[in-house]
Amino acid sequence: MNIMDKKNLPIAFFDSGVGGISVLREAVKLLAPEDFLFFGDSANAPYGTRPREEILRLTLAHAARFYQRGIKALVIACNTATSAAINELRRIYTDIPVIGIEPALKPAALMSLHPTVLVMATPGTVNGNKFHDLLGHYTDRADVIPLGCPGLMEFVENGDTDGPEVTAYLTALLTPYLRQNPIDAIVLGCTHYPFVAPVIRRIAGDAVKIFDGGEGTARELKRRLEQESLLRDSAHHGSVTFENSLPEKIALCKKLLTAGPDA
Ligand code: DGL
Repeated sequence: MNIMDKKNLPIAFFDSGVGGISVLREAVKLLAPEDFLFFGDSANAPYGTRPREEILRLTLAHAARFYQRGIKALVIACNTATSAAINELRRIYTDIPVIGIEPALKPAALMSLHPTVLVMATPGTVNGNKFHDLLGHYTDRADVIPLGCPGLMEFVENGDTDGPEVTAYLTALLTPYLRQNPIDAIVLGCTHYPFVAPVIRRIAGDAVKIFDGGEGTARELKRRLEQESLLRDSAHHGSVTFENSLPEKIALCKKLLTAGPDA
């Protein structure tokens, strides 16, 4: 395929569900002329409590389908799937940029002198080797507390981003940590969590800085497309197409894309 034809292909985004839209919305802001295809595997969610082999199998199967349809880049907008599958994906798809996401620990750990950083993520992410490697880079720069949050992504999947149940869940989860230590930063290490960031902000208070990897991932996508001369002409009006293994989630996807700002 020549480069002009390749430029016109969509950029595929993948998540276990609707959470990756927190990354997609950053990419849409940065890359308005591009066509985006977002697939969420809500029928198989959550991924974060599955064994690594299953997450790998599901992610590879969805990536293969995307690739056969024709895409110019693949964004794994899921920390859990990135942790389980990014190495294999990069080995298989060598002719397109394959971008993953990991908890934004770096900016949080470097924000001040030895801060205390709470990293919220799925059990799959906090127990994975990739996270342990990441942690190893920052243990002498910050006190890092990894916090697996089983059950949290389900609120977002059900469209509950601000109701009494999710507020009660987050209050019960976070209060013991906030009482025990002066927490300087919270890293949202799952792409579903930015949608509940305003609730986390209310519980944690204004002094705590909240980090997520969405914007950095979108910037990395732009950088890679530029590097490969794959950016579309600025005159093109970009589009976003949603697909989901549970088609009834599409209305929620559209709503989340235009959801208000984070905390
Ligand atoms: N959105 C995903 C992430 O970033 C995980 C949610 C799940 O458990 O499926 O980790």
